[in-house]
Amino acid sequence: MEQFAKLHADDVAFFNNLLDDRSFTNEDIIVEYGHDETEDLQFYPGIVLKPNTVEEVSQIMKYCNERRIPVTPSGARTGLSGGALPIFGGVALSMEKFNRILQIDEKNHQVTTEPGVITEVLQNTVREKGLFYPPDPASKGSCFIGGNISENSGGPKAVKYGVTKDYVLNLEVVLADGNIIWTGANVLKNATGYNLTQLIVGSEGTLGIVTKIVLKLIPHPTQTLLMLVPFFDAAQACEAVAAIFQAGITPSGLEFMERDALTWTQNFTQDYTIEVKQNHQAHLLIEVDGFDADQLMQDCERTMMVLERFETDEILFAESEAQKNSLWSLRRKVGEAVKSQSIYKEEDTVVPRYELPKLLHAVKTICKKYGLHSVCYGHAGDGNLHVNIIKGDLSDDVWQNDLPVAIRELFSEVVRLGGTISGEHGIGLVQKSYMDVAFSDVALNLMREIKKVFDPNRILNPGKIFD
Ligand code: LAC
Ligand code: ZN
Repeated sequence: MEQFAKLHADDVAFFNNLLDDRSFTNEDIIVEYGHDETEDLQFYPGIVLKPNTVEEVSQIMKYCNERRIPVTPSGARTGLSGGALPIFGGVALSMEKFNRILQIDEKNHQVTTEPGVITEVLQNTVREKGLFYPPDPASKGSCFIGGNISENSGGPKAVKYGVTKDYVLNLEVVLADGNIIWTGANVLKNATGYNLTQLIVGSEGTLGIVTKIVLKLIPHPTQTLLMLVPFFDAAQACEAVAAIFQAGITPSGLEFMERDALTWTQNFTQDYTIEVKQNHQAHLLIEVDGFDADQLMQDCERTMMVLERFETDEILFAESEAQKNSLWSLRRKVGEAVKSQSIYKEEDTVVPRYELPKLLHAVKTICKKYGLHSVCYGHAGDGNLHVNIIKGDLSDDVWQNDLPVAIRELFSEVVRLGGTISGEHGIGLVQKSYMDVAFSDVALNLMREIKKVFDPNRILNPGKIFD
């Protein structure tokens, strides 16, 4: 393991002098910034810094680069792959003071924002102008837009509107040595050199610190229709997904929840308004949106015609905004519900949509082989299945030794199906040992070389994505 210089009293004095009361070494703050939402992992930073100007970030980076102090960027710490964990100590660089939406450019349908703005706050603010920023991870009420850029977050709307990367036009980034750059231009087309903007998106804080973000917006749809469809067979629910698209319908949400995902969430939230019968093995939550109510009704009717080919129980149509919100809230809380139940391992598999039934089959077959219990849910329309493997009363031995073998087998199958090992949660710390399943040595080495160009002293979020 690489050795970094420990924080000296001089370093602490430098940071205290630079940031005054926004530099923290007290235990409660150190503990707080030592974890995100990834499983039960905890690593303590030596110091937590909360700069509020790009110049401060630049000075911090310059100092840390010269003294080889690791810097782990930190947002709202809602990540699920350990991206914000300061695994080598050093500086936890919190971007929470960068919490201003700087400009909504209604004429060009763009917004310029700082990274520490909560995603839902950004969405609601642009919505007041009739504009839409679609990417909506389950944690949208607490995650930061900067974190979404680091992880290239998705969410339910991705199926129709794309993921974070599809909205990022330009970024202000502080590099490892403290230099400040803009990666692109505030334009919808850009054929000017390498695409540094997209290289930063999804780089999990390993290439630079994002300090300003220019996003593309679109007109906000005015209508939605939402239906919940119970299936007697989970495989059929997965088969119905591609069939809906093949009928020419593009839902604005197409989510899968297998039985345990829904019933555990009902128990967690104590919300039993949905009746889950004994023979309901899975549900699809299907949303269509747009500007024309008649068109949406037609989309629903055509969707129902497709569903007639499968064995479903009575379909529930949300009748009010309140009911729509409650169905979405149930879906968004699945992750939390599983977490509250047991220690678990979170996987974020993604395959081409039509292969989803094969992915579910592979999950169940491999888990059975290793005696593991899985709870599956996620963005079925994207072929993106969250696979939560439950520790329950399994022994530590099975958990530490058999589980990684089972995951490797699952990931190999995912890649064989044309997919990859993370759709939206990132690689971070907890998936990096599987990167060789997704990439050849040559491709992985290219990534390592890129990292070296940006961060020759390897101080930026070290130990993430690869060693
Ligand atoms: C979700 C998060 C876990 O889809 O990605 O609920
Ligand atoms: Zn998700």
